[in-house]
Amino acid sequence: MSSQQSQQDELSYLYQRRTRTVKPEHQLYQAYDIEEDIERTNVHYEKHPDFFYSFTAGRWHVYSCNMWSAGIAEDDDTAAQEAKLDKMAEMMGLQAGMRILDVGCGWGGPLTYLCQQYQVSGVGLTLSPIQKSAADQRIAEHGVDATVLVCHWKKYQPSEPFDAIYTDEVIVHFHDLVDFFKKAHSMLRPGGMMVNKEVHFNRKSELQNLKRGDAFVNQIYGFTGNYHTLYEELEMVDRAGFYLYQHFQLSRDDYPKTLSRWIDNMYANRERMIEVSDKKTWQDFRKYLRLARMMFFQPGSTVDIIAAKRA
Ligand SMILES: C[S@@+](CC[C@H](N)C(=O)[O-])C[C@H]1O[C@@H](n2cnc3c(N)ncnc32)[C@H](O)[C@@H]1O
Repeated sequence: MSSQQSQQDELSYLYQRRTRTVKPEHQLYQAYDIEEDIERTNVHYEKHPDFFYSFTAGRWHVYSCNMWSAGIAEDDDTAAQEAKLDKMAEMMGLQAGMRILDVGCGWGGPLTYLCQQYQVSGVGLTLSPIQKSAADQRIAEHGVDATVLVCHWKKYQPSEPFDAIYTDEVIVHFHDLVDFFKKAHSMLRPGGMMVNKEVHFNRKSELQNLKRGDAFVNQIYGFTGNYHTLYEELEMVDRAGFYLYQHFQLSRDDYPKTLSRWIDNMYANRERMIEVSDKKTWQDFRKYLRLARMMFFQPGSTVDIIAAKRA
């Protein structure tokens, strides 16, 4: 058997097997206090930025599903990132002079792009001091009007309301999502828009007892997973006082294609990634990205963008 075949078999086994050995504390929906939440989330992100830049690639180093289906050339990471961000900007109704909040801003790529492209100003929140330094550097290089804070969303107190608030594959880490939506509602001006892009499982039963493959992905994120179905999320948006304004589902090919690009980039930049981390971390990330790609080949999940308006 080739080593590629045996790796594939191991992944299929992990993916398929719904096992009694996933411990209760490794399942989804763990409630942590703020300090533990920060510590666990940072297990994933407190690495040299080059580790992530090496595989997310493109100009903006977006660490979430990109929109290849918008007619983007095979290898144009930047264009696929910008197509997705343009879609989110359209759903936020961005216009020059607006003030926006990016909750979970990564290394500041999306916020910098939106500020530059749409002449808006913005604030980004992250939990990672390393991400903040990288974002500060990017913001200075592009000369945009943006500020990044190391701050948990629960502790953030803005000095003035925002025209739009957005998240991109971040709310999956939030245990108390209704509270987050309520807080977003309170931070928007009347008529302001909240836009969330997220992965949704399509069957509640899939979420209640994780397969080992899903549990491995949860582990890579410090066991901070709080996945929901789309209907649960929409119900919470409603409970927080928002009016559902728009729903857009990304193509089913967009995440497999994004993940395939990241895996190819991991191989192409293996040496640098190991230099700034270690071999085990590189291998664990390869495994998690391959498991995630497998997840998107199943019928059980979608990637959706929801726009909800404060009346
Ligand atoms: C998967 S990354 C997504 C980054 C970015 N949205 C993108 O698409 O490239 C998740 C980000 O959410 C941030 N994050 C997670 N939990 C958070 C919280 N409770 N408050 C603020 N930021 C949080 C992490 O620090 C990280 O920057």
